[in-house]
Amino acid sequence: MGNERPFHWEFRPEPIEREIFRIEGGRPLSGRVPISGAKNAALKLLAAATLTGERCRFSNVPEIEDVRVMAETLRDLGVVVDHPAPNVYEVASGDVDWLFVPLEAAARMRASFMLLGPLLSRFGRVIISNPGGDRIGRRPVNLHVDAMRALGAEIEYRNGYYFARAPGRLRGGEVRFPFVSVMGTENAILAATLADGHTVIRPAAREPEVDDLIAFLGKMGAEVERTAPDTVEVEGRKRLRGADHRVIPDRIEAGTFVIAAAVTGGRVTLEGAPCDLLGAFIETVGRVGLELSCGRDTIEVRGAPPDGGAYRAVDVETAPYPGFATDLQPPMCVLLSQAVGTSRVHETIFEDRLEWLVELARMGAAVTIEDEHHATISGPARLHGAEVEIGDLRAGASLILAALAASGTTTIHGAHHVHRGYENIEGKFLGLGARIERLAEGTTDSSS
Ligand code: UD1
Repeated sequence: MGNERPFHWEFRPEPIEREIFRIEGGRPLSGRVPISGAKNAALKLLAAATLTGERCRFSNVPEIEDVRVMAETLRDLGVVVDHPAPNVYEVASGDVDWLFVPLEAAARMRASFMLLGPLLSRFGRVIISNPGGDRIGRRPVNLHVDAMRALGAEIEYRNGYYFARAPGRLRGGEVRFPFVSVMGTENAILAATLADGHTVIRPAAREPEVDDLIAFLGKMGAEVERTAPDTVEVEGRKRLRGADHRVIPDRIEAGTFVIAAAVTGGRVTLEGAPCDLLGAFIETVGRVGLELSCGRDTIEVRGAPPDGGAYRAVDVETAPYPGFATDLQPPMCVLLSQAVGTSRVHETIFEDRLEWLVELARMGAAVTIEDEHHATISGPARLHGAEVEIGDLRAGASLILAALAASGTTTIHGAHHVHRGYENIEGKFLGLGARIERLAEGTTDSSS
């Protein structure tokens, strides 16, 4: 790379400290909870800021581990990342001198691969590690790589790294995906903004976070337009400018708190969370029998008393937006464990996202995992406290929900996974009257 710095130069993420949650369940939640900015928007916006040398400013950025890892990854490249106030990040990518995204970043967070498109497009080369990410399914990146090749990139794979080059500039072109990919779409969009000519991306993911990214790129001077529900077109520009942007609310966090109110029989108002971001989720919890009302920017949830038999079983099939979000499938399963009858769950997007149901079953849920894509849940089950283990982010939040609904005390190991994506989750639950504490792994006693 014409640069003598050793691999892994400044990348020193905080060591992962193993933590546990201890939760005493069986208390209805009540009160108001603010919903944070969307993880899946913020990470891409930070990556997009490398498309310009000018300063970009983001507000409503969630204070979560994944954002910290992205900030460290950018700093390692020579990007200036300031954090002048809570939830505010400023990014200035004038002096990027190290076009190498190391294994340490990729292993901790799949979204580090979002740097492929912008760095390749702006600097004409990048070496980037194959990401690991959550332990959910195989999570390949072939669609991202094929999209870059469709725009004229030359990419080789050696020893776990993609070596990507764009001789001259990337060229606008036709990016055809065999099926919808959220980050694949976003990487293609970012790459196309500085390519020479016109790009058509189809099918383009329709998630609100993709449109948030498009809105920000527009402020940077990029020409990006969703010309049909599943089509995004980009006219390449020679350069982009800095811009300010407020991150949209996190619809997955919002859905998680909706279920928390539902399964504890609580009354909770979510602030800064418009219903229309939640797609099929709102309609599905409505069919279950959950009462909620949508304000302009709030969602008010009135959970039914536990054991009242008020919730009905429904079948759920995950799908790209506006279908039922795969990230809300695990929380939904907790609600279905409290519904009368048998619900079938079909996870169409990822292979490993039903595995965590083994842990839910340890808490008393009646669950049958048929294969890696299908499960049935019968209810209502009386959940009870247990010792359980978190395997990934969304499963982690869902075990918290189950513990809040359960009688007795639950100890949840692997709490650090949850901090990857949920801002101050125990603080928010405490504010709603939950009994939850976060302790270092190995702690046997607590003061409260
Ligand atoms: C994003 C979200 C994640 C969400 C998922 C689906 C971020 C940071 N993460 O992940 O929270 O669960 O969308 O809504 O935004 N695939 C391939 N090859 C590829 C890329 C994907 O085969 O190159 C497959 C995946 O294995 C999966 C499907 O495509 O089966 C869809 O995945 P994708 O939409 O790409 O998910 P992500 O963008 O990684």
